[in-house]
Parts: sequence; C-alpha cells; structure tokens
Amino acid sequence: MNELQEGAILVVDDNAFVLDSTSLLLSGYGFSVTPFMDPNEAVRKFSAGRFDAVLTDVKMPGMSGIDLLEKIHSMNKEVPVILMTAYAELDMAVNAIKLGAFDFIIKPYKPEYLLHAVKKAVNYGRLLQIEKNYKLKLEEDVKKRTHELAHALNMLKSMSREIVHRMTAVAEYRDTDTGAHIKRIGLYAGALASSLGKDAAFVEDISFASPMHDIGKIGIPDSILLKPGKLTDEEFEVMKTHTSIGNKMLVDSPHENIQLAASIALNHHERWDGTGYPRGLKGGETPFEGRIVMLVDQYDALRSKRPYKQALSHKEVMDIMLKGDGRTHPSHFDPEVLAAFERIAGDFDEIFNGHGD
Ligand code: C2E
Ligand code: SIN
Ligand code: FE
Repeated sequence: MNELQEGAILVVDDNAFVLDSTSLLLSGYGFSVTPFMDPNEAVRKFSAGRFDAVLTDVKMPGMSGIDLLEKIHSMNKEVPVILMTAYAELDMAVNAIKLGAFDFIIKPYKPEYLLHAVKKAVNYGRLLQIEKNYKLKLEEDVKKRTHELAHALNMLKSMSREIVHRMTAVAEYRDTDTGAHIKRIGLYAGALASSLGKDAAFVEDISFASPMHDIGKIGIPDSILLKPGKLTDEEFEVMKTHTSIGNKMLVDSPHENIQLAASIALNHHERWDGTGYPRGLKGGETPFEGRIVMLVDQYDALRSKRPYKQALSHKEVMDIMLKGDGRTHPSHFDPEVLAAFERIAGDFDEIFNGHGD
C-alpha cells in the first residue's frame, strides 16, 4: 500500500463498460485500480497482492459476487468487500451483508455514492489494521514486561539467598569450619522432603529456609559455643536457647518461607519420642519441617568436625542414627523420615562429599 494513494482497489465486473467506467472514476480520484472481468482471475490476483478493498458485481457467469466474497474472506477476513447490484437483486445484496459484505451499491450508481462507499471501506480496513498493529504492540509490551518481571524476580530470589547465606554465616562461621554446612543443610532437606512426596514449591521453600536453623547461635557466648570439651548442664541449658532465639529473629514474617524458617529454628531439636527441646513436643506435634531438619542437621553435624568433636564417616554416622550410640537413638526420629533417609542415604553422602569445607 502506497500511502500517497487513496488505496488499492480490486474491481470485478463481467460487463466491460461498467468495469471501465468504474475503474476510470476511481483512478481519477487517486485510487490504484486493478480491474478484472473474470472473477477466478480476480481471486488469483487477490491472493498474490495487497488490496484495501474489493468492489464486485453480484451477477457474473462462473462465480457470483457472493461466492467471490466468501473466497476473499477465506483468504483475508479483514478486507472490506462492496457489492454492486441491480435493483432487482437487492434481496440478495442485503443477504450478502449478513455474510460479511461491507456495503452494497445499486446500479446504476451515482459516482459520489460509489466514491463515498469505497473511501469508507478503505478507511475501515486501515482502522482494522491500526487496531491489529496496536494489539500486536500491546502483546509485545506485555511479553517484554513479563520477561523483565521474571528477571527482577530472579534477581530478588538470588539476593534473598545471598542475604540468608551471609547472615547465617555470621552465626555459623563461629563453630563450623566454613559456610559449607549451611549449603548442605538446604540440599539434604530438599532431597528428603522430595523423597517424602512434597511438591516442588515446598522443596524449594525448605531448601531456602533450613540453612537458617541455627541462626540463633548468634546469641550464644563464645565460651559455650566454642568450648573444646563437653558442656555442663548449665551450659547446655544456655545452648538450647539457640532454638527460641532463632525463632524470635524470624517469627511473624509476612513471607511464607521466612515463617517456615522460624518454625525450623524453633523445632529442629524436638524429638519424635518427646525428649527434645525447647518444648518437648511428641510425634506429629512437631511440624514436618522440624522433623526433617532435625535429622538432616544431625547427619551433617556428625559428619563434620566441631570444636567439641571429630568428623565421622558416612558408615559411622548411619550406624549412630539407625542403631543409636547412647546420645542419639532411632526413636528420636520420625519413623517415616528415618526410612526415607535410609532409602536416599547415598545422596546424603554425595552431598556431603560434593560440598566440603
Ligand atoms: P551441632 O554441633 O550443630 O550439633 C547438632 C546436633 O547434632 C546436636 O544437637 C546433636 O543432636 C547432634 N550431634 C552433634 N555431635 C554429635 C555427636 O558427637 N554424637 C551424637 N550422637 N550426636 C551429635 P544437640 O545435642 O542438641 O546440640 C546442639 C548444639 O549444641 C550443637 O550443635 C553444638 O553447637 C552444641 N553442643 C552440643 N554438645 C556440645 C558439646 O559437648 N560441646 C560443645 N562445645 N558444644 C556442644
Ligand atoms: C506433613 O506433615 O506435611 C505430612 C508428612 C508427615 O506428617 O510426615
Ligand atoms: Fe541447632
């Protein structure tokens, strides 16, 4: 479409006189006209070119104007088609409007009527095009925004993870060799929750939240936390408060995964048989996440070197957790969680070895 032109019009009429005079009239007013006597040829031309409007006779041998209208709309619904009709065929023309014709002109027509109808059709087609382009642009904008939003969300997520890591490290670096313990806890907890059939969202949340389980150790004095030997009863009472301190640091967040972290901080030393702390909860009274992280934490603590203990092998740790050693007893663990742990114990060993200090 040339913008300097009024529009490209395909004109079809089997009557040579009508075709010529109509073409001449439209060309005279600046339209670019492509005339055809044969509707079949017109259809072929239409499929190859771009037209702003089609002006066609109704009664033609071979193909009626109605058939032509349908053929054209099967190729491009948006191009307006104007029918030229004799007064006697008026009923047919009115019906054609129902079939999607844009307008009709009664022959013999007054030139200004024809011009008016053709201009209206061209404008209509162009408005449709503008609307279509606008919609496309909107869709593109939405796509772009969605992409930007996803990017921002990812950045926020990675920033949250980094802040958690750095915050937790402040507490952890004091009694563990490096921050590797923090990372491993999230990996074990995710693997264990997943093996217990938890959905991907929960697995992501517990992987994010569980590394914060010991954040309350920040409130425990060095003299206790870093003591090379066994704690006295009084010292251990102080040590136990790292659960409620951690809970206080994280509680009442509007964010579900921080709520989960608060629950984990509070509940990761509860035991299935009720001998844990701080509340001595029994069995399912301890939230699921607490039962998961309690096991995961013990596995990693046992495998790691602490100021008060040496590192143990996977086999030694499995023996302690599955058979007991006087301090740890299998009855401490949720039996289902312990069974799942036993099933995927190889993954635990791999996580430990792959994310060393
Ligand atoms: P942690 O070192 O991160 O240990 C976490 C949990 O792993 C312990 O919770 C315990 O259930 C288990 N665990 C760790 N080491 C051993 C072990 O040698 N044998 C067995 N059977 N289990 C082990 P728990 O007992 O509630 O201790 C909580 C935290 O208190 C520990 O975190 C550690 O920071 C501190 N702690 C516990 N016992 C001692 C100790 O004798 N000396 C010192 N300095 N700190 C201790
Ligand atoms: C849950 O607490 O979400 C179900 C799993 C369980 O109770 O062990
Ligand atoms: Fe702890």
